[in-house]
Amino acid sequence: MKTIHDLNFFLSGNHKIPMGQKVALIPTMGNLHEGHIALIREAKKKADKIVVSIFVNPMQFSKNEDFEIYPRTEESDKKILKQEEVDFLFQPSNEMIYANSIEGHTRVEIPILSSLYCGSSRPHHFVGVSTIVCKLFNIIRPDFAVFGKKDFQQLVIIKKMVRDLAIPVKVIAVDTIRNSEGLAISSRNRYLMENEKIIAPMFFQQLSILIKNLSPDFHNFLELKKIFLRELNEKGFLFEYLELVDAKSLCNPIERVDNIKYVVIAAVKLGRTRLIDNIEIN
Ligand code: PAJ
Repeated sequence: MKTIHDLNFFLSGNHKIPMGQKVALIPTMGNLHEGHIALIREAKKKADKIVVSIFVNPMQFSKNEDFEIYPRTEESDKKILKQEEVDFLFQPSNEMIYANSIEGHTRVEIPILSSLYCGSSRPHHFVGVSTIVCKLFNIIRPDFAVFGKKDFQQLVIIKKMVRDLAIPVKVIAVDTIRNSEGLAISSRNRYLMENEKIIAPMFFQQLSILIKNLSPDFHNFLELKKIFLRELNEKGFLFEYLELVDAKSLCNPIERVDNIKYVVIAAVKLGRTRLIDNIEIN
């Protein structure tokens, strides 16, 4: 079943969901891994029916990015979905989502937030993300939608979109799943060369050291940022950003305020692989 029509058939036709049953959506671009599985398992705690979407969304890639080579692993994805007893896979085609033209398609833009951090090196990325997620919400009409904290800025943007546009979906956030060395699991990790795989976990390790040494008033953050930069530069990482921000607005705080959650977000490049990560401050 690959069409929106089929999905409607599933949601309201023969497979009608009994009154009171809840639907959760996990939007993905496929190449499913432990991170995605964690989202599916969390969804199952909240909802009766689980829909996973797989769509490598061209609108969120720039021309010079990896859309063409993004890993597409349909067979193994389907195996995982079966193992996890997912009720429905929604796997639309480009034509189904964008008809004949991405350029002419309506866009959903969350200003400011979309241009910061990852948005500054990937200027059209978050417009593509919010547009496709909004469209998936409208097609599937889930009660819940589950996102990973690994893509922290994406999560904050989706939450803001839901609030601003009064979309009746409850967004659930799931902690980052890491490999045994701490590297956040990502479909893009497969772009790492053998020697890069060995040093990639240092990104999270240095981030953890920074958090451990951060003073309660955050006043030594800039000093720690310099050390972080130096350590990673020496290992061959290319620095993109490292920021300590309010976890809800993603603004830099002037000073620490009680009862506000903060997070350190970062992006680096290792060879041709872009890595992002973050740690929440407790
Ligand atoms: P994708 O990279 O496939 O990720 C799908 C979801 O899985 C996102 O919510 C992401 O944060 C989460 N995820 C990925 N790796 C994770 C990890 N190691 N631990 C926890 N969660 C993880 O993000 C996208 O696709 C797209 O931008 C999408 C939202 C589907 C819109 O096209």
